[in-house]
Amino acid sequence: MAKEIDLDSGGANHQKPRGEDDIMTTAQGAPVADDQNWLKAGARGPSLLEDHIAREKIFHFDHERIPERVVHARGYGIHGHFELTRAIPEYSRAAIFNETGVKVPTFTRFSTVAGNKGSPDLARDVRGFATKFYTSEGNWDLVGNNIPVFFIQDAIKFPDLIHAAKPAPDRGFPQAQTAHDNFWDFISLTPESMNMVMWIMSDRTIPRSFRFMEGFGVHTFRLVNAKGKAHFVKFHWKPHLGMQSVVWNEALKINGADPDFHRRDIWDAIEAGDFPKWDLGIQVFDETFAEEFEFDVLDATKIIPEEQVPVEIIGTLTMDANVDNFFAETEQVAFCTQNIVPGIDFTEDPLLQGRNFSYLDTQLKRLGGPNFTHIPINASKCPVRHFQQDGHMAMTNPKGRVNYEPNSWSGDIDDNREPRGPRGCPMHGFTSYEAPVESPKLRARSETFADHYSQARQFYVSQTPVEQKHMADALTFELSKVERSDIRARMVGHLRNIDDDLASKVAEGLGMEKLPAAIPAAREPITDLPP
Ligand code: HEM
Repeated sequence: MAKEIDLDSGGANHQKPRGEDDIMTTAQGAPVADDQNWLKAGARGPSLLEDHIAREKIFHFDHERIPERVVHARGYGIHGHFELTRAIPEYSRAAIFNETGVKVPTFTRFSTVAGNKGSPDLARDVRGFATKFYTSEGNWDLVGNNIPVFFIQDAIKFPDLIHAAKPAPDRGFPQAQTAHDNFWDFISLTPESMNMVMWIMSDRTIPRSFRFMEGFGVHTFRLVNAKGKAHFVKFHWKPHLGMQSVVWNEALKINGADPDFHRRDIWDAIEAGDFPKWDLGIQVFDETFAEEFEFDVLDATKIIPEEQVPVEIIGTLTMDANVDNFFAETEQVAFCTQNIVPGIDFTEDPLLQGRNFSYLDTQLKRLGGPNFTHIPINASKCPVRHFQQDGHMAMTNPKGRVNYEPNSWSGDIDDNREPRGPRGCPMHGFTSYEAPVESPKLRARSETFADHYSQARQFYVSQTPVEQKHMADALTFELSKVERSDIRARMVGHLRNIDDDLASKVAEGLGMEKLPAAIPAAREPITDLPP
């Protein structure tokens, strides 16, 4: 015989509410008497389909997952604020840059790139450093990394880079923890990645904590002042705590002992009131500098050396609050390089231009439709007025009768006349900087993007001997996991164009009998391999 459950006293399966506010309801708000026992025909079943409470509970659970980000799937978000410490109206008309002391709320998400959502924190990988500034003129997203350069010059290669870096499609392993043949095959055939390779083989890709990392906007952007004059700009984040990394053996141990090490570190610091801070720095330069600079400022595989254009500090980011809900905030936040405000503009950097398309496109799918700006973490904190409407989960349709323009209605939103709705304003609104464009349509890359080794060499020689040893060890370790000897030889051939001593150390570490020949300096991907 089934045991009878005493609803008043509560049984093992039934906990009593403390008061009226504590009574469980369905998603429709109807009070629930028991959500621990499915309605059955007799105490021993079968279970009845009629049980709307059980079906609602299971239905919702079944749909809890959304696609993880196609890259940067593993991330951790923190609230904060940005305070401008030096106004720069001479460079930008953006409200966030115009009055010293201006404060805006922020949300930052740190991430790894290649691993999936459940991958360990201490993988050797680039870290994302994406910040949403909720400014009085709309959201500005600075979607950067902890490394100032990137693997590729043109966004059309991004799917190849990421396919090669993620688990191989047949076997589904390995992930970013140790690289593998596909990754090094792609890299060794892509000379433009050599500068980035030096950075990722350095200690920067195994940071001690998110709190000890620099951040970079990577691309050259434009700042445009109230007179319409533009300057080029690179954005930098400088951590108040300085930079620290772990060594590879430590990273491996930490990953085994606590794969959540980085997220736990920042959560604990913030809970303890130990709020991490970063200074926002800018490198500003004009067309003349850009023309005389030895590399193309539109090439995201290059830095502008700080000795040539010093970083000017203009503000401070303080991270001071953990999220209330990881999914609602960290998972649903949607950063996008195209989220800029008047006074900030893009350049013709071909990587940036592709990104501007990609983020919005992927978020349409990841967040289930075009209305993800209605999710609180993505909603701007200033008024939003437009005629966009409907679609899945629409929360803020236009008010009143008018949802088109031009229109000849005359009222304001809150008076008794029919509101005419918002209108564009050339004086206050965003206007694209009138960069001259006049050239034939070409599927090509500029000759000015061709030097792939000089900055890689500069980075390597700028490292201390200990750091150089870490880089040689990292390259040896990573390439020792590559099974194909021709890929290893090709990589060492590239290293010879960077630093012969480094190439020799790696070749020796890999047990090569002979040092492979240097790769002829190629500007395009290497395609002339023997069949
Ligand atoms: C995500 C940085 C290049 C496509 C991200 C994120 C960061 C980032 C920080 C994570 C955002 C978050 O926390 O939610 C960068 C940097 C790049 C770069 C610094 C080069 C300078 C590219 C390129 C593409 C791309 C070239 C495509 C053409 C994506 C996509 C996501 C992403 C699709 C996932 C966005 C989402 O699902 O919300 N990137 N990325 N990225 N990136 Fe990039």
